[in-house]
This record gives sequence, structure tokens and C-alpha cells, in this order.
Amino acid sequence: MGMPCVIYGENHGYLAHTLMGEAGAQWIIREANERQRASYVECLLSKFFCRATLSYAKFLSEQWDEAYRTGQYRNWDFGAASQEVATIAAFGLFPRNGTILDAGCGSGSDAVFLATLGFRVKALDASSVALDLVKGKAAKAGVRVEAIHADATKMPIDDASIDFALDRGLLHNLNDNDGVAYGRELARVLKQGAGLLLRGARISYNGNFNPITVERLRATFTESQFSIGPLIPITMVSGADKDPTLDGVIVRIQRR
Ligand SMILES: C[S@@+](CC[C@H](N)C(=O)[O-])C[C@H]1O[C@@H](n2cnc3c(N)ncnc32)[C@H](O)[C@@H]1O
Repeated sequence: MGMPCVIYGENHGYLAHTLMGEAGAQWIIREANERQRASYVECLLSKFFCRATLSYAKFLSEQWDEAYRTGQYRNWDFGAASQEVATIAAFGLFPRNGTILDAGCGSGSDAVFLATLGFRVKALDASSVALDLVKGKAAKAGVRVEAIHADATKMPIDDASIDFALDRGLLHNLNDNDGVAYGRELARVLKQGAGLLLRGARISYNGNFNPITVERLRATFTESQFSIGPLIPITMVSGADKDPTLDGVIVRIQRR
């Protein structure tokens, strides 16, 4: 047995998935509800002992589905387009007639807002419950958003078909390996010169978040394929009643 590893129920998967790499560790799962606990255990079994039937993809989407079903998603979602996206739109800096990908779109506030401005929008998320929220918002706004239920490390999107991408809170929830796979997928789907507006936590909170740092960005977005702009600290806002702010960072990544 290795060192005991504690998984707290509040984390959204990246931590659990990372720690699962520590074969032989002793697992202590705290504060998770029964359903999350069962997911963790089944996932561990499937990873190391090939006994459980729950695949990682299913584990991933069930975790997030739960957050969208129970309303826990208000811990990061405040129900309106983000100020960063609204500002870029106000200055006309999104590519005209472009296709925009919102990776890890959640309930789709940014995605639907951009669709109302006439952009073609692909909203991708691992949670089908989140995508139902996206579809509801789009229908209410009378716009079309293409909802894609997929893992961002394997996007069902054509090569070089995206003019601009958004990520608010996806990369900071991926472990290092999945982050690298995600970066590879972005390199494939982004057109030459396309930008990625990335926002995420700059520090870890009680083990939640795999923070966005210069080192992490260099590992995720290879020098030969991407340029990485300066990391600018921002305060990210959520819809949480208690403590609705997060020490975040915003950065412009560009496909070479
Ligand atoms: C913190 S939330 C942010 C949602 C949205 N961007 C926002 O700002 O409200 C992270 C989102 O990423 C999604 N997600 C997490 N891992 C994913 C993966 N591997 N592939 C696709 N989506 C994923 C979750 O379902 C969740 O909706």
C-alpha cells in the first residue's frame, strides 16, 4: 500500500483521475455522495482490475451530469454571457462569418450569446444534461447552436474547421495527460491563425482545479503549433451564493 489518497466529493474528476495513476495507493473517499462514491470505485476497478463496466467516458459525463442536474453548476455558472466574450464581441474581434467552438460549454451562456450575434457555434461538452440546458437556451433565444456530446480529448469535429475557440473552466478541470490530448485536438480542429480564449483558475483550491500556469500551457500547447500570450490575472465570477469569485487567469492562445 502506498500513501493514503483522499478524494473529496467536491472535485470534478480531474483530481480523481490523476490520483488513479497512483496504483497501489490506499483510497479514502470523503464527502462524496453515494452515487459519486460508486462512480469513483467503479472507475478505479475498471482502470486497474478490468472488472467494472463503467467506462471513463461514462464516469466523466455522469460526474458532470450530476452537477448540472442538482444545480451545483451554479458554483461556476452565473447564467449570462461572460464579460470577456461580450467585450471581444463588442469590439468586433470575433472572426466575421466564423465558426466558434465553445469547448466545455456547460449550460451554454457564451455559446448562445454568440449565436444571437450570427456566429455559427459548436457547443461541446461531456455532459448531456448541460447540453439539454444549451438546447433550451438556444430555443428560447430562437437561435441554432450545434450541441456536441463528446470528450474534448476526442472531438468529433473536422480538421481545420474552427475559426475561434473558447474555454472557460475546461482545461483547469483536466489532468495533465488529458490536457495534452485536448491541446492536440485543438491543434487539429483550429484553422491556421485561429485563436483560443482560455480562462481558468490560476491556483488550486483544496485540491480542486489543475491550475493554469505557464508551465502547464507550454506542456499543453506545443511551441511548434501554438503561440501563447501573456497570462493575465482576472477575477472569475460564478453564481454561487457563498464566495462567488475565483482567482482566475485569461490568456490568448493562437494556432500557428
Ligand atoms: C467548470 S465547467 C465550465 C462550463 C462553462 N464553460 C462555463 O463557463 O459555465 C466545465 C465544463 O467542462 C465539461 N467537461 C469536463 N471535462 C470534459 C471533457 N473531458 N470533455 C468535454 N467537456 C468536459 C463539464 O461537463 C463542464 O460543463
